[in-house]
Amino acid sequence: MSFLYEKVIAKALYTLDPETAHQVGLRGMGVLGACAPLRLLMERSLTPKGCRPIEAFGLKFPNHIGLAAGFDKDGIGWRGAAALGFGHVEVGTVTPLGQPGNPKPRMFRLPAQEALINRLGFNNEGLASFVAASYCALALMFCVHLLMIAGSGLNPLRYAQKIFPVLAFAFTSRSSAGAIPMSVQTQTLRLGTPEGIANFAASFGATIGQNGCAGIYPAMLAVMIAPTVGVDPFTIGFIAPLLAIITIGSVGVAGVGGGATFAALIVLSSMNLPVALAGLLISIEPLIDMGRTAINVSGSITAGTVTSRALGETDMAVFAADAELESDTERQSV
Ligand SMILES: Cc1cc2nc3c(=O)[nH]c(=O)nc-3n(C[C@H](O)[C@H](O)[C@H](O)COP(=O)(O)O)c2cc1C
Repeated sequence: MSFLYEKVIAKALYTLDPETAHQVGLRGMGVLGACAPLRLLMERSLTPKGCRPIEAFGLKFPNHIGLAAGFDKDGIGWRGAAALGFGHVEVGTVTPLGQPGNPKPRMFRLPAQEALINRLGFNNEGLASFVAASYCALALMFCVHLLMIAGSGLNPLRYAQKIFPVLAFAFTSRSSAGAIPMSVQTQTLRLGTPEGIANFAASFGATIGQNGCAGIYPAMLAVMIAPTVGVDPFTIGFIAPLLAIITIGSVGVAGVGGGATFAALIVLSSMNLPVALAGLLISIEPLIDMGRTAINVSGSITAGTVTSRALGETDMAVFAADAELESDTERQSV
């Protein structure tokens, strides 16, 4: 393995400028780390033999050599780095806003000393990438809702168009509870769901099984935090209890702004994970909370619509009609 590195990989990397080589290496470690068989092979062949494990700050380390903070600032290659035999890997230099770091060039090779000097600064993508990842997850969940609607025999595009105003209200108000009246109105007057089912789905869905606040958000935090305490989040032993705790914990989370932070605290503490990061993310939380709330409301409307269809109680004439909802003022003037 060291022959391959010295004769091929290192020589190829030396043809690049130091910072590009660093990025290529880091991304290569990311790819290696994502491929489980390769990772296991690396762990087996590269873990140093005969090392003395040590214990410090209540944590156990398999050896004394660790990878210092600042090498993997955006947490791209940590799984590959862990498989290279380090006793620990410190990941991340994440600031609330992304930063370009110091002006380039800022990495210099010292071949004679087989060393490298760097003054990168705090170049990182910032928490914006967490916001982007959250919105990707929320968009995927919305697709699941539309698939369920399609599975119940309704046109998902028409459905999306009809629920758009209530989703926009939930997005801007960040309150699942506040969106209940509009959700009931949308379900009964635009989707043809009977009032009983609509009331039940909208009010129940504001406190139980919120897809965004009590599902996606705590799950993402738990997966992010697990590696900081040496737990691999991509194992069934981590994912199975996480899903069970999220399902049980999602019962009774308040449908108001910031409710997801409470959901995250419940899930993280039940999984024995440190809760401090949930506090750190409060700075960008409102941005994610808007999308999360819209998905909560979409989830409860989907539940009502699918139930109504399954019971054969949907008024298809109402679902097919193009009528707009009348506003409260129009109603009063009639
Ligand atoms: C958030 C954070 C980011 C860091 N970024 C860098 C960096 O870009 N370059 C660097 O040389 N050290 C960086 N460091 C410091 C290293 O982790 C390490 O402490 C330093 O390189 C000294 O290690 P040494 O004594 O083995 O040289 C960073 C530390 C932290 C906590």
